[in-house]
Amino acid sequence: MAARIASSRSLSSFLFSSRVNPFSPAYFSTNFVGESPVLVRDFIRSALYDPEHGYFSQRSDSVGVLDRSIKFNQLDGRKAYTKHVDAIYKQNDISWFTPVELFKPWYAHGIAEAILRTTNLSVPLKIYEIGGGSGTCARGVMDYIKVNAPSRIYDSMQYISVEISSSLAKKQLETVGEVSSHAKKFRVECRDAADPSGWGTEQQPCWVIMLEVLDNLPHDLIYSKDQVSPWMEVWVEKRHDEPELSELYKPLEDPLIENCMEILDLVKDGKPLGSRMGSIAQSFLAKVFPRPRRCWLPTGCLKLLQVLHGALPKMSLIASDFTYLPDVTIPGERAPLVASKKDGINSDHNSYLDAKGDADIFFPTDFCLLENIDHYCSGWLKPTEGKPLKKGKKRRTLMLDTSSFMEEFGIPSKTRTKDGYNPMLDDFKNTKFYLSVPTHNTK
Ligand SMILES: C[S@@+](CC[C@H](N)C(=O)[O-])C[C@H]1O[C@@H](n2cnc3c(N)ncnc32)[C@H](O)[C@@H]1O
Repeated sequence: MAARIASSRSLSSFLFSSRVNPFSPAYFSTNFVGESPVLVRDFIRSALYDPEHGYFSQRSDSVGVLDRSIKFNQLDGRKAYTKHVDAIYKQNDISWFTPVELFKPWYAHGIAEAILRTTNLSVPLKIYEIGGGSGTCARGVMDYIKVNAPSRIYDSMQYISVEISSSLAKKQLETVGEVSSHAKKFRVECRDAADPSGWGTEQQPCWVIMLEVLDNLPHDLIYSKDQVSPWMEVWVEKRHDEPELSELYKPLEDPLIENCMEILDLVKDGKPLGSRMGSIAQSFLAKVFPRPRRCWLPTGCLKLLQVLHGALPKMSLIASDFTYLPDVTIPGERAPLVASKKDGINSDHNSYLDAKGDADIFFPTDFCLLENIDHYCSGWLKPTEGKPLKKGKKRRTLMLDTSSFMEEFGIPSKTRTKDGYNPMLDDFKNTKFYLSVPTHNTK
């Protein structure tokens, strides 16, 4: 349980919340799959974002909003903070609070400071935020820039939110619209950021913010029946004679899956790399003690970064997410947590196929893999050879623990309790920030 306290969003709500689930009756996940089987990523996309029944689409409270900022300096310490947040969860009919909400406005101010310190201020500031939730980050970033940057920066800035959920898009407009001068500079485009048709081409430098978005992007799954058999793509199907969904294994042919495997340096035929003796031993073991292998692939992230690099070639990226998730029971490398709440009780599911539109599905982010995907999509690295592909697409990247990021760019004293305990620095050990800036377009 301690690990859950030390993390964010749904994890803390396992501890704090005891509200009644407003989301009933549940939509049956079997309806997400029609006559034909679908890839796992398409199943996950429907379970989270189906316009009618997806977890994020139909409920604006999938991302909680605090009525007011927490006055950390008035709380004695960890116990008082826990009690305070517990009370907020009980009062609010929401699912989870993300860090940008819990630590508002300070978390967003840290992000704004990072942007101001790194950006070329001779070009008008343009910020895209993908998956802005309730708009708290946008509001905090714009507030900070208004007060702390030269007025010409604020006056000429644009903040564009790209949000897939119509209910959250509406909420963002309300949150930012509370400050009338922000409203003119802010717009929401309600669309899937990973769909290239929604983007033009932006040749100017710009920023992209993504907070806790990577974890909710669709992933694929590959499967091998033992240590040496070829990897297969996993599809989800609804068999006529069975009430529940089941998996179907097909030979690899999806290009996104194959690209992702290439970036991961995974051998498609499933055979282990190494000496001849080593592979004879592996084949023997696979026969005597066959161990099925399952590997989750961040194909949604790959697709999104391909689209973003194509549409915004001079973008700087700032993303934060979970590095690991505790207590995952779903099998496979980089497996997700599938968590739902019924009658005030939180529960984890043992299968992603249980997601019925009432469950959040979220994955840990492998930040080194994210960096490789970023370099691959920028056209700089061909991962298997580690050689530059195109000249001039190099990027400078930085990974920081949330505490290091906030110590560098934020004002940590604002989230410190009387006895020195600081939940923003002390509790978010399983989250990191990723910054990636182009080195070829400083102008
Ligand atoms: C867990 S919430 C995080 C919200 C907010 N960034 C925060 O930290 O509070 C994930 C957000 O990403 C949005 N989202 C997920 N996939 C998206 C996509 N492909 N395009 C645009 N928005 C997306 C969801 O609707 C939601 O607003």
